[in-house]
Amino acid sequence: MLCAFWICYIALLGLAAASPLLGRRAGSSPADKAAGFAKRTARLASTYTTKNWAGAVVSGDNISQVQATYRIPHVSLPTDADPNQYYYGSAWIGIGGSGSCGQGLWQAGTYWTYVPGSGFVTTLFYEWLPGSVEVPNLIVKPGDTITVVLRATSTTSGSYTIINRTTGEKVSQSLSRQPEICLNSAEWIVEDNDLDVHPFPDYGTITFDAATYIMNGQTNYPSGSTSDALDSNGDQWADCSTAAQTVKCTWAEADDAGGY
Ligand SMILES: *[C@@H]1O[C@H](CO)[C@@H](O)[C@H](O)[C@H]1NC(C)=O
Ligand SMILES: *[C@@H]1O[C@H](CO)[C@@H](O)[C@H](O)[C@H]1NC(C)=O
Repeated sequence: MLCAFWICYIALLGLAAASPLLGRRAGSSPADKAAGFAKRTARLASTYTTKNWAGAVVSGDNISQVQATYRIPHVSLPTDADPNQYYYGSAWIGIGGSGSCGQGLWQAGTYWTYVPGSGFVTTLFYEWLPGSVEVPNLIVKPGDTITVVLRATSTTSGSYTIINRTTGEKVSQSLSRQPEICLNSAEWIVEDNDLDVHPFPDYGTITFDAATYIMNGQTNYPSGSTSDALDSNGDQWADCSTAAQTVKCTWAEADDAGGY
């Protein structure tokens, strides 16, 4: 799996992001993830634990847009990591990840990959699940601030816009005839993309600012909704909080450094 991922990843770098397909990230079947997440969110209130997501999730209906501005993090390996291993993680916003009427999820943001011998590489991505990871044609580097706007124009179509705040450059694209998603949640998430490889890379703090979502044409904020996760045994790798238009997650060392 890791190898498949890496081979795809090399192809991706070589192709200069000409709409390449990445292999499914190891250890996170989107269908399982969405189904499991739907079950958990259905019965949990504002704070809960998931295996691989942290951040904020709001539920509602007829959600047509979610957006946030955040600084792309400098990511490093914790001291107990094995430098000969690959590591993955991502930060993204989404619509529909906790829905129960379908297993789709519309998401966009950044992911990072630790490559033994060369360090972390960070890339923008968008993905309409169940589908593959796609890479927009805009170069990213840690420390840059981006705004990500994700729109759903129906349960099967939408668009994204990603703006580089440093240069004002932007990339945007529309998608249609996608698998059906629910328009009943919006989320701002830090994700462990490989549950089998631990510890989770240290992303410092990711602050989703100007975080809003549009429901029934009205702009709303994520305040009050928080998930605290990246976890399966009660060992947290993220401390998250929301305040008005901000969702902030800080990497936290697990109590049990041995991992999962
Ligand atoms: C923003 O533009 C700067 C300057 O061209 C570039 O170095 C950086 O990688 C860009 N960041 C993003 C997120 O596109
Ligand atoms: C959904 O929201 C849009 C505005 O974004 C509104 O025009 C439409 O009537 C809403 N649909 C329903 C079923 O409420």
